[in-house]
Amino acid sequence: MIRVNPELTDDQLLRLFDKGTLGQWTPDAIEWGDLDRITPDLRHAIAQVLTPVYLGEQTAMYGVSAVLPDMLSHGHHEEALYLSSMGLDEGRHFRNLHKLYHIFQEEPASRHRIPEMFRYHARLLSHKDSTEWIWGILISDLFAKHFYGGLFQRYPDTVVGRLSRRTLKDEARHQAFSERYLEKVLPTMDSEHKAQLIALRDDLFRTMEAIGHRLYDSMMVLDWKPEDFLHDLSLDTERWVKRLGIETGV
Ligand SMILES: [Fe+2]
Ligand SMILES: [Fe+2]
Repeated sequence: MIRVNPELTDDQLLRLFDKGTLGQWTPDAIEWGDLDRITPDLRHAIAQVLTPVYLGEQTAMYGVSAVLPDMLSHGHHEEALYLSSMGLDEGRHFRNLHKLYHIFQEEPASRHRIPEMFRYHARLLSHKDSTEWIWGILISDLFAKHFYGGLFQRYPDTVVGRLSRRTLKDEARHQAFSERYLEKVLPTMDSEHKAQLIALRDDLFRTMEAIGHRLYDSMMVLDWKPEDFLHDLSLDTERWVKRLGIETGV
């Protein structure tokens, strides 16, 4: 129920919201020039590999706008505040990648080439409650962390590296939000509900594996084996499963 003048008591979430507000930036913060440091072949491969991430930034806006009313109606005002800033972050990431495709003069991969990327987002949005969506979005934020991190490592002094490094800062705030939300909610969840979170993780990883197969050739142009990427992501996700105490023993 939306209340007039609700209490705002979760200082950690309020600080994250303030960080999100202060952390806003525009495309002007990026130096978009010196494209010649990335060969046309690399540009094409990056455009292909970026496609599921590009779609993910756009569908994250959709997810935030779907979950926000649920938070407000359950009296989670601090969470709703934070999600407003997260929606703006995801909008900016979508806009930046849109600009990158334009500058590269490349198109994203077609939906026929990677049909699983739509399955991934459909699964993410098929949540029965906000907790499932936030757990799924944490996995997607970890995906973004490894993906943008890998691009930054490979092409640090280029527009791709600069954009990746800047985007990583926003994604780190998103992880901090998911952590705070989940550490509050998980102790109240029964093991059946926790098992649904593990099932969601497994579904998302199965879909990511299929996407990796589709993008194998383009990933290899970047000297990046999809299985290595997924291995690192899986280790990171497992750390979170343990840290949050999601493992149900089933
Ligand atoms: Fe994002
Ligand atoms: Fe994010």
